[in-house]
Amino acid sequence: MVLLERVEEHDNNDLEEAIRPPIKNKIEAKNIQFGYQDVRILNDISMDVQEGEFLVLMGPSGCGKSTFLRLLAGLEQPNAGDITIDDVSLQTQAPDCGVVFQDYSLFPWLTARNNIVLALKQKLGKAKKKQALQQLAEDYLKLVNLGHAITKYPGQMSGGMKQRAAIARALAYGSDLLLMDEPFGALDPITRIQLQDLMLQISREQKRTIVFVTHDADEAIYLADRIIMFGLGKEGAVTTSLEVPFKRKTTNRKKLLESEEFLTFRDKVYEVMNKEILNQIDETSLVTADGAGI
Ligand SMILES: Nc1ncnc2c1ncn2[C@@H]1O[C@H](COP(=O)(O)OP(=O)(O)OP(=O)(O)O)[C@@H](O)[C@H]1O
Ligand SMILES: [Mg+2]
Repeated sequence: MVLLERVEEHDNNDLEEAIRPPIKNKIEAKNIQFGYQDVRILNDISMDVQEGEFLVLMGPSGCGKSTFLRLLAGLEQPNAGDITIDDVSLQTQAPDCGVVFQDYSLFPWLTARNNIVLALKQKLGKAKKKQALQQLAEDYLKLVNLGHAITKYPGQMSGGMKQRAAIARALAYGSDLLLMDEPFGALDPITRIQLQDLMLQISREQKRTIVFVTHDADEAIYLADRIIMFGLGKEGAVTTSLEVPFKRKTTNRKKLLESEEFLTFRDKVYEVMNKEILNQIDETSLVTADGAGI
């Protein structure tokens, strides 16, 4: 009997596999080159991001992660190569995406709520009444624990609060593509954990595609389906792709973080990360701390 159930289970899995629609690419970046003035930052970067994938970008400071995100957001144009989102080239159409930048990019003369309302107005025009937009803004501010700061201006908020307001704005924007540049960098550990879980929930339930930058390996592994490690090559950034070897994350964070598979994969991530960092250190430029000049 038990055996029969197992066989049936197996057949159902095969059937599900067979009827599951093919996974589409949300983003396709092909042979991207980009430089500021004559300094080359990205050289021949290619990557695909699947619909609904949670992709995390990591790598040493200055290697071009934010630059790459700005290209995906259509804020910079590549010098060569092409990026398509939903099969449409960014050369012909700006992408529909929610973004959280490293500097939060909130308008200082608007309250937290009105920063969100403005973004929604830009997207929706007059399709929704002001009151409905305000309500939506408040709902998302509450979701990131900023219910008490709805009418505060950025100048009256801490770094972590501004970051959460920027996250609320990106989520409220409602796009199925989210580009997030170190969005949790300024948060206290508890809020950070809460928002990591919120992002996982959003990614699973709403099937949004998320490209997320972080320097925190544990955060990367907890969130990602795949990690792409950027490194500084001689001719611009180079990338290494690491598939996270867990099917679907368990909701029990403690159990996952202590599990053998998590720890083994974390070693692997550190190995690749440290290699990129060591590549960057020019030993001849090391200064001996002999106290001179101090
Ligand atoms: N507007 C700009 N003009 C000229 N150079 C720039 C500009 N913005 C960034 N850069 C340079 O491009 C390189 C990549 O910067 P980028 O911000 O993409 O790095 P990053 O990987 O996001 O770093 P971090 O982890 O510190 O955020 C750096 O050398 C930086 O100095
Ligand atoms: Mg950056």
